[in-house]
Amino acid sequence: MIDRIVNPSAENEESRDIELEVTLRPRDFSSYIGQERLKKNIKLAIDAAKKRGEPLDHVLLHGPPGLGKTTMASVIANEMNAQIRITSGPAVERAGDLASLLTNLQDGDILFIDEIHRLNRSVEEVLYSAMEDFKLDIMLGKGPSARSLRLDLPKFTIIGATTKTGSLAAPLRDRFGIIHRLDFYSPEEIQQIIQRAAKILNVKIDKLAAAELARRARLTPRVANRLLKRVRDYADVNGDGIIDTALSHRALKLLDIDELGLDAADRSLLAAIIENYSGGPVGVETLAAITAEERGTIEDFYEPYLMQVGLLERTPRGRKATSKAYRHMGKNPPRSETTRTGQSSLL
Ligand code: ADE
Repeated sequence: MIDRIVNPSAENEESRDIELEVTLRPRDFSSYIGQERLKKNIKLAIDAAKKRGEPLDHVLLHGPPGLGKTTMASVIANEMNAQIRITSGPAVERAGDLASLLTNLQDGDILFIDEIHRLNRSVEEVLYSAMEDFKLDIMLGKGPSARSLRLDLPKFTIIGATTKTGSLAAPLRDRFGIIHRLDFYSPEEIQQIIQRAAKILNVKIDKLAAAELARRARLTPRVANRLLKRVRDYADVNGDGIIDTALSHRALKLLDIDELGLDAADRSLLAAIIENYSGGPVGVETLAAITAEERGTIEDFYEPYLMQVGLLERTPRGRKATSKAYRHMGKNPPRSETTRTGQSSLL
């Protein structure tokens, strides 16, 4: 998973690329492209909170990786004129770590917790009263002599991000007043994001080439910006620095990314389902074994996009390759195959 250019996660990102991502990140709603419904709702909540002179209600953002949850959190902080502190579920190991984070906040601050579904149960429990009453309950000592202490906390806002709402404990989920899902972007929005990034990076790319990159960027800004950077490298070395369609085709061919944005790993996953399991259904554990990936990697990274573009279907009995997947892989779909709309896909 480490070297996949289409990996929507920021993990294993090289530091140059992290810098690039930060440079390209929109800082306010006016430069944030896409997620229109989310922006409208959050803007309203921000205006209301500002009008009342209160902190923003706690916000939970969920959805596949790479769609801008962290970016949205920093935009919200900016729009609230608030300071943001950033941490993640795995980084907050003990209740004491959370206590130290919370007691160092000031009124109005935002605490962004990425991968909030990975918080320890004991940490999560401290978070409940902190979120609800702005109180910190600390246990002093152990056994019969244990006492609990209640500290006042500043009026802060938690913004939690997760790729798996399903694995968030219900009591934690219930403490968020604002819950939104980030959706995949449209190809047109991704094209605009590429054109905006190209302008910031001083890269010359024509409109058709931007559209071509957009079609192959898995409807994900992080992948789009990474593709742009790789294609820019190619243009600097093999061209005159200008990205047109012919050049972007050659660069993408070298990167082995096909017309739907699939790389070799996606294609071998589809090929395994089609060739070894007659199109499925196949259990996710089997797919993990075939691809030598972890189950979570399949579920969080491969599947959301493959399902979004209609190549993979999740059924109660396992994953199935769709007739579109067969055609994409140059195979004839089985005659009994039906599409998701229920229509027969007999050719
Ligand atoms: N860069 C990454 N995500 C973006 C977005 N949603 N809008 C503008 N630029 C971006």
